[in-house]
Amino acid sequence: MDKDVIFEPLTFRNLTVKNRIFRSNISGRFDNYDGSGNQARINWEEKFARGGAGAIISSFVPVTLKGRIVPNYATIHSDDRIHFWSKVGEAVHRHDCKFIMQLSHSGRQQDIEGVENDHIRLSSTSKTESFHGLKCRSMTKDEIKDTVNAFAEGARRAKEAGLDGVELHGANGYLITQFLSSGINDRTDEYGGSLKNRARFLLEIIEAVRQKVGDDFHFQCKISAVEYNDAVIPWEKPGNTLQESVQICKWIEEAGIDSIHVSSGSLFPHPLNPPGTFPLFGDYATDCAKNSYDTMLSSGNATFRNYLLFRYPFLQPLFMWLWYRIPNMRNREKKPFKGLDITAESLNPEFRKFFAPQEVEELLRKYQGISIEDAKAIKAAVKVPIICTGGFQQASYIRNAINDGYCDAVSMARMFVANNDLPQQFAAGKDLPDRPCTYCNKCLLNTLENPLGCYEPARFGGDYQAMIDEVMTVYKPAPGDVEALV
Ligand SMILES: Cc1cc2nc3c(=O)[nH]c(=O)nc-3n(C[C@H](O)[C@H](O)[C@H](O)COP(=O)(O)O)c2cc1C
Ligand code: SF4
Repeated sequence: MDKDVIFEPLTFRNLTVKNRIFRSNISGRFDNYDGSGNQARINWEEKFARGGAGAIISSFVPVTLKGRIVPNYATIHSDDRIHFWSKVGEAVHRHDCKFIMQLSHSGRQQDIEGVENDHIRLSSTSKTESFHGLKCRSMTKDEIKDTVNAFAEGARRAKEAGLDGVELHGANGYLITQFLSSGINDRTDEYGGSLKNRARFLLEIIEAVRQKVGDDFHFQCKISAVEYNDAVIPWEKPGNTLQESVQICKWIEEAGIDSIHVSSGSLFPHPLNPPGTFPLFGDYATDCAKNSYDTMLSSGNATFRNYLLFRYPFLQPLFMWLWYRIPNMRNREKKPFKGLDITAESLNPEFRKFFAPQEVEELLRKYQGISIEDAKAIKAAVKVPIICTGGFQQASYIRNAINDGYCDAVSMARMFVANNDLPQQFAAGKDLPDRPCTYCNKCLLNTLENPLGCYEPARFGGDYQAMIDEVMTVYKPAPGDVEALV
């Protein structure tokens, strides 16, 4: 076989990664309530390094306590966190894998604020968040300055921890998107209005980070190429277009970013991200959104409304219609290419009892590479390498995406959760894992209450206990059983 592009190293200005498969950011509530880390986080990240990922892009790491989505995500808001992150880096490095920290701030998009915070979150706006109804207020200029500095300090700490780079979380509706988005940002000062003004916050962060870490440290940014801010709530403004995002990417490249990680959506989750189904039905408590969403009932003005929509059969069709409006429209568009056909032999017989090859083929057609054309448009406008996220799990499809110039690498989140060793499976010649991710999004909904892992019983031949046993491996070795953090 010719050289496989998936396993060719990717060289950025300041970093070389051994292959083109990045573990995308995927957050689970494994850490301690106060945002200190523990062994479970190390176990989590090490799973994917062991499985052959070229680089791991961390989950959401808050740069301030006000910027948390939920408690129990390890933070980088103070120097005493450096030691923990250095341990995470060491564990990942043992497998010849790089570790890039995602520097993040929730802004108003905070699921459970935690005892240190109040109900009024910080944002670019004082407009309540549209999906859950999370209340917020517009940041003052001093707060903006402090937050810019918090990102820069987070980057310095990541570098001091010996990590390989940092990523700004500029996507999916969190604080940076709240500034970038024409659908959310309603400021009238120099941080609102024109595209350049809306990009000012991000550009100031990039400048401040570069000042702290110098020019020789890998620094990338995740952005939402298209926002569809009106996807779930049709009377919201639509948000940034692809053309606007392309312009933002040109500016951030000029400002010193080494790579762009392309995603979509001005909220999280969003009907296009992570692409797939919204779990409302199923036999187990872990199958249905209503069973973990009740954790959020007191968080926002619209959470009770959503809970009713998730719970009551006569309201569910309304929610389904709203949620699938944009994906259905996008699915009618012609896809640029597809991977190899799926045959019965390529799937595990137990899995096939739940999903026929044609159903898997249809899932891949709908959800694999959902942002690929946006990535191509951005790639054409900048020189830095492009990483694309969203639904990738088939080697033939990924090869095509890279060879045809859509992106330089792909990032995978749920695909890695389902198959921790996916790159090794590709290296062994598999085109698709025999128990593929079904895009069911049960991992996503469970993460509010339960340990992050794959919650699709079909992947375990319907054996619920086997599925839970696999989820619980994140606690092996258990926090407290090891002295790794000393
Ligand atoms: C449970 C869960 C948690 C996630 N957490 C983050 C996060 O912390 N930061 C982020 O940028 N994206 C996050 N994402 C989005 C993923 O990084 C990824 O871009 C998206 O799921 C599409 O990739 P996939 O189809 O391979 O899952 C998360 C996704 C899931 C399912
Ligand atoms: S629960 Fe498992 S199969 Fe479903 S989306 Fe998550 S990783 Fe994929």
